Amino acid sequence: MTLRDALAGHDGWKPPRAVWPRLVQLLRARRKRMGARPELLTGMAGVQAAMDRPLRRAADVTAVLLALRQVEGLDLEAAEDAAAEVDARLVEALCVVRAEPVAVTVTGWPPAFGPLEQEQLMGAPVGTAVAPSTAALLHQRLQGLALGGSTLQVHVPLGPDEVLPVPDRVERADLRRGRGDSWLPHVDAVGRFSATPEEIAARQAELLATVHEGLVIDPFCGCGGSAIALARAGLDVLAIERDPSRARLAGRNAKVLGVADRVTVRTGEALRLLPGLLRSHPGAAVFLDPPWGAAEGMERAALTWDTFVAPAVWSLVGDRRAVLAKLPRDFDLKTLPGPRAWTLRWEFGAATVGADRVVKLVTALRGPA
Ligand SMILES: C[S@@+](CC[C@H](N)C(=O)[O-])C[C@H]1O[C@@H](n2cnc3c(N)ncnc32)[C@H](O)[C@@H]1O
Repeated sequence: MTLRDALAGHDGWKPPRAVWPRLVQLLRARRKRMGARPELLTGMAGVQAAMDRPLRRAADVTAVLLALRQVEGLDLEAAEDAAAEVDARLVEALCVVRAEPVAVTVTGWPPAFGPLEQEQLMGAPVGTAVAPSTAALLHQRLQGLALGGSTLQVHVPLGPDEVLPVPDRVERADLRRGRGDSWLPHVDAVGRFSATPEEIAARQAELLATVHEGLVIDPFCGCGGSAIALARAGLDVLAIERDPSRARLAGRNAKVLGVADRVTVRTGEALRLLPGLLRSHPGAAVFLDPPWGAAEGMERAALTWDTFVAPAVWSLVGDRRAVLAKLPRDFDLKTLPGPRAWTLRWEFGAATVGADRVVKLVTALRGPA
């Protein structure tokens, strides 16, 4: 017997025409708010498929019916919870939660993301079977993730009636709290949000120090996180920041963290100050960390080199200097400018919630000519 048959035969079941579209809408809203999770009712096609599935023997159709009635007439937040309950009841009635390990495959890796990085991100060698709860988490974290100009697709081979267990809730409040920490003693809101994590800033600085010594120009220094890491790696830094109070914070951070002798902060527009600085320091390297867009409330649609570094800035830098760029993980790597090759390194860090490894950003290094 299918769910459709069971509902049709149930006393008092009048197919409420609005309930299914509303359910799908509520589940989508909930998924958007709480992070992706695989659901039974992913769209109206999912509803039709669910209606035509055979019922499991122990299915409680009355409980499904009651849950369906709850969805109508509730305010949005409460209705989202009711929708999740219907989904859970339908899963109980129609599906078996996968218990055996399952091999998760992921496609759409960008060319520069090799097997070692894939293993690091997935937490297991690619192709090994993992616990169903891990598979559900991988699906939640990686499905649709934009990485280096590609989009990841997660494939979990399940039987026709099998579903994955629901992964733990992602608490948005925790996410917000996590973002508040900064390793810099003096930060404003932008600095807190945009400072390079200390560990990554140190690795980037050490990488640049392997191909360059002497002066580095950091035209978008913010509160100075990267500039301080570059100084700690033994480089001298000429930093520029257009926001005067943020520039002062960068100077104070350099002082408190003991590298004031290596970091000089200038307040001003990069485009106005750079020509003179680059002319008077022809051998200087350049560190590029302009705003990533989202932090400034801008669209993050086209993450290409030309939208990331203004062509006017790049033409001033020229193609002979060493350049280190801190790129968002969804930056389209195909657009890195030539003619010389870039060395790429994916920077991993702990997720803000839980112990998962996530790709934080990409480091791109071009050595001196
Ligand atoms: C991503 S943050 C830099 C974070 C820094 N690397 C750190 O680790 O602390 C970019 C900074 O560039 C500054 N900025 C953006 N456009 C600028 C421009 N045209 N000239 C100078 N500064 C600029 C912004 O005010 C912002 O503080």
